[in-house]
Amino acid sequence: MENKEKTIESLKEKIDVSNLPNHVAIIMDGNGRWAKKRFLPRTAGHKEGMERVKEIVEVAAKIGIKYLSLYAFSTENWKRPEKEINGLMKLLVQYLRAELNTLHKNNIKVQALGDISKLPLLPRIEVEKAIEKTKNNDKMTLNIALNYGGRDEIIEATKNILKDVEMGKMDIEELNVNTFNKYLYTKNQPDPDLLIRPSGELRISNFLLYQIAYTEFCFYNIYWPDFREEHFYRAIIDYQKRDRRYGGI
Ligand code: FPP
Repeated sequence: MENKEKTIESLKEKIDVSNLPNHVAIIMDGNGRWAKKRFLPRTAGHKEGMERVKEIVEVAAKIGIKYLSLYAFSTENWKRPEKEINGLMKLLVQYLRAELNTLHKNNIKVQALGDISKLPLLPRIEVEKAIEKTKNNDKMTLNIALNYGGRDEIIEATKNILKDVEMGKMDIEELNVNTFNKYLYTKNQPDPDLLIRPSGELRISNFLLYQIAYTEFCFYNIYWPDFREEHFYRAIIDYQKRDRRYGGI
């Protein structure tokens, strides 16, 4: 066996399968800087980032992660140049067209987090198709965050709760953490146990603000296009060393 494969195998062996994070969230950051370092256009970084999406989705499902949330496009990303936005939308279409059958075959359920009604038509159709085709799958849920913002999600939830109260569908006294959860894009899903952010930035950038109350964080100094299987395993191993007390002792 080659050295790299040996390292991957020995990392995999270190994972305690009885203590896997149920839900892993990833802020896929650093595509632009990865490309810049190579004198390539930013879209080349996103393209390579898409390859890592394929790899990490496969690896996560294989080791038994039940929910994987990937931050692909935020509500703030519309501020980017049109060319870059179009490039990202194209990649999303490309990814879904190339991977949908494999995702389905691997029993992976695709879900979107965010307001996908604001996406351009083509990516929206592909996303809806993927959600529909995979809706009964249950090995792993892949949440793709698209036009997603944590603050927007909380505001939308609040608006919908107020509407339901007004219409008599909900009693305000019933509002608690569990009922609030049902108004989020992640309804019926557990909160992330582990959040990974490569690229060296130490911030949350409006991702899953409500859901990360007790999430463990893992920051990496490499860019997302360099984030490989072994880094994913290392993050899991690191997570398994954490003492999660949820405010207790
Ligand atoms: C952040 O890096 C990354 C994004 C805004 C896009 C993420 C998209 C992909 C990984 C590819 C397509 C995704 C799917 C699901 C097919 P950045 O551009 O902000 O990097 P920088 O901070 O170095 O500029």
